[in-house]
Amino acid sequence: MSSTTTDKEIVRNYFNSVGFDRWRRIYGDGEVNRVQRDIRDGHQQTIDMVIGWLKTDKALDQLMVCDAGCGVGSLSLPLAALGAQVVASDISDQMVGEAKNRSIDPNNPKFSVSDLEGLSGEFDTVICLDVLIHYPIAEAEPMIKHLASLATSRLIVSFAPKNPYYSLLKRIGEFFPGPSKATRAYLHPESEIRKILTNLGFKVARNHFTATQFYFSRLLEAKRV
Ligand SMILES: C[S@@+](CC[C@H](N)C(=O)[O-])C[C@H]1O[C@@H](n2cnc3c(N)ncnc32)[C@H](O)[C@@H]1O
Repeated sequence: MSSTTTDKEIVRNYFNSVGFDRWRRIYGDGEVNRVQRDIRDGHQQTIDMVIGWLKTDKALDQLMVCDAGCGVGSLSLPLAALGAQVVASDISDQMVGEAKNRSIDPNNPKFSVSDLEGLSGEFDTVICLDVLIHYPIAEAEPMIKHLASLATSRLIVSFAPKNPYYSLLKRIGEFFPGPSKATRAYLHPESEIRKILTNLGFKVARNHFTATQFYFSRLLEAKRV
């Protein structure tokens, strides 16, 4: 078994079990603890930023979007409600099941269970939020490469940036308290992600950094040049 398979299996199992319970609550609107509330708020800022970017560029009803690693549909569902055609998938069937439960329109988004590299098709915009944190750079790179191959116009990714502050590493550890430490959090140097995108023929057009107390996410919008 390759290390990629191992990492993916661990992540899939996590998001089908304890991770599912934890993240379904964080990405919901019910009662959560202080740390989870902070992560919920930070994540919502990332979602709002992406939706804002998409809205300013093109009428959403003209947009075909792939939401890769869609979780419970935090991005896919509002995008579909705003008129975008959304194809959404996740490695965890539990997360996809929850996303379907939250969906109003049975035809949009179109949900499926798939890992990133199993996706096919052509999309104006491919988006992958807060997924790369689960993989080391050597595994993240082919994932980004595959997602880029599906994007005719742009690719939007987010990741936890690596910087010298050990306190940040510790805080990032708060993403996975308790038994959920079964998944590791990987921080990626922004320069490496940018280099990967450049080598794939993309240019970073916009970027944003969301930081709350326990949530850190660097967002890059890369356009095909
Ligand atoms: C932290 S959640 C983020 C969910 C969603 N992108 C969002 O921002 O709301 C990470 C998600 O990535 C999914 N995931 C992890 N590895 C994946 C992979 N290799 N392929 C597809 N989905 C993956 C997990 O199952 C989980 O739903």
